Amino acid sequence: MRKSVDLGNFGEYLHYGMPLALVAVLEDDGSVNVSTVASMTPLPGEPSRLVMGVFEENFSAQLLKKRGEFTVNFVTSKMRSIARACGIYSGKDVDKFEICDLHTLPAQRVSAPLIQECPLNIECRITDVLEMDGLNLFVSEIVALEVDESLSDGRDGVLVEKLDLLFYAFGHTFARGPMVGHGAI
Ligand SMILES: Cc1cc2nc3c(=O)[nH]c(=O)nc-3n(C[C@H](O)[C@H](O)[C@H](O)COP(=O)(O)O)c2cc1C
Repeated sequence: MRKSVDLGNFGEYLHYGMPLALVAVLEDDGSVNVSTVASMTPLPGEPSRLVMGVFEENFSAQLLKKRGEFTVNFVTSKMRSIARACGIYSGKDVDKFEICDLHTLPAQRVSAPLIQECPLNIECRITDVLEMDGLNLFVSEIVALEVDESLSDGRDGVLVEKLDLLFYAFGHTFARGPMVGHGAI
């Protein structure tokens, strides 16, 4: 037997993919806007791609279209209040870097910086934008992936068991659960 679920919540219920991230984009004056984004999915292949949904009304959407590149910075479980603030306030009104006391590190291949407080960072270049009903779907190439040295395996891999990231699922925020198996399944 099945029970109906309110369709209005459908998108939020289905979120349980990528960890919650702060998306950083360079502004015209050289400052950086940062915004919380849950709607993103990596795509396998060569190059690896990332699909991300950003509402047209968000300041970030304008900047992303103008700049064509951005960084994705994954938040840790200790950064919940920062993820909340960056997901409530708009860069149109406030400097979120300042109110959240965030710091930057230079990226390798894009103009937007990495956020120092976030231990895992992706650099992306936008290749396609699909506009639909007030939502933009940004398709990007992943051009670099960086991890804090405390989480590096010393070669070119990540100590995934030590990653402490946040997941937005069913309208709530979760920490990562334990690894239940090595390998794909
Ligand atoms: C947990 C969480 C997840 C969010 N996910 C998204 C998202 O996937 N796409 C989006 O456009 N906005 C999302 N938001 C809302 C934006 O972060 C919010 O509208 C923000 O104020 C936009 O800032 P900006 O105007 O500086 O771009 C999310 C907010 C929170 C709190």
